[in-house]
Amino acid sequence: MDTSYRQFFALQKEPFGADIARKDVMLTKPPTATQERIQYGLRLVAVVLVTGEIGSGKSTTLRYVLGGLHPSEHKVIYVTATSGSILELYRQILGEFGNESTSSSRAVMTKSIKQEILELTLGKKMKVVLVIDEASLLRMEVFAELHTLTQFEQDSKPWLPVILAGQANLLENLKYRTSMPLAARVVARSHLKGGDLETMTAYLKHHLAIAGVTRMLFDDAAITAIHQGSGGLYRKANHLARGALIAAAKTESAMVNAEHVRVAATELL
Ligand SMILES: Nc1ncnc2c1ncn2[C@@H]1O[C@H](COP(=O)(O)OP(=O)(O)O)[C@@H](O)[C@H]1O
Ligand SMILES: [Mg+2]
Repeated sequence: MDTSYRQFFALQKEPFGADIARKDVMLTKPPTATQERIQYGLRLVAVVLVTGEIGSGKSTTLRYVLGGLHPSEHKVIYVTATSGSILELYRQILGEFGNESTSSSRAVMTKSIKQEILELTLGKKMKVVLVIDEASLLRMEVFAELHTLTQFEQDSKPWLPVILAGQANLLENLKYRTSMPLAARVVARSHLKGGDLETMTAYLKHHLAIAGVTRMLFDDAAITAIHQGSGGLYRKANHLARGALIAAAKTESAMVNAEHVRVAATELL
């Protein structure tokens, strides 16, 4: 796609991007509520769940909250889950500690991870936080075993809080009998929903401002169309809004209207 629309609307950069800086995260009610729950989980050294549909803002909210933790006090181990084996997850976690273990034994891997945690917790007086994004992809065997990483000294020392983020089926997976030891450690959960029309209006303005434009470029019908077309979900709203800007620029229309949003929608699945 050509970038002449940016010139047309005097956008200083690609608008509605995924790479928003921490200072540019829009602080609406949901991220704030999620933040409180995560902080509670960190304080109690327990498990916190963050669920929501694709594009509802889970990863962005995590990035915002974790970015606020002081790096000299916290070591955040952030992994994006896959549907692979538990060994793969253990390898990812160890990799975040800078440990490139190639063991194929679960027991050896668990021990190595716990040693890394102990070294930071007792040796360096840091707080380790394990964050697993896309946790809804994890296999059931992982849910059944993950809690063992949090058990130190016969489960008397809480040293590892865990934040699991993913789609709603994460909750279903945690309700299985085999997941119970992990589920029992959950102290708070937060579900991110799509924004309402008012939030979407603020959201569009917010992202235009990030790209350096303070004039509202979307008319009311366009905002409604983006809200409805995206179900209030931000990732889809980004694509609709950007596409609509492109369509509007093509017809040299200073305002984006519902027809431009409709044109943009034909490009998306
Ligand atoms: N609070 C927010 N402030 C600004 N932009 C946001 C916010 N939440 C989500 N977004 C935008 O929506 C996109 C999708 O959000 P993301 O966190 O990746 O969703 P999820 O992880 O739930 O799939 C992000 O790339 C970002 O552009
Ligand atoms: Mg995500």
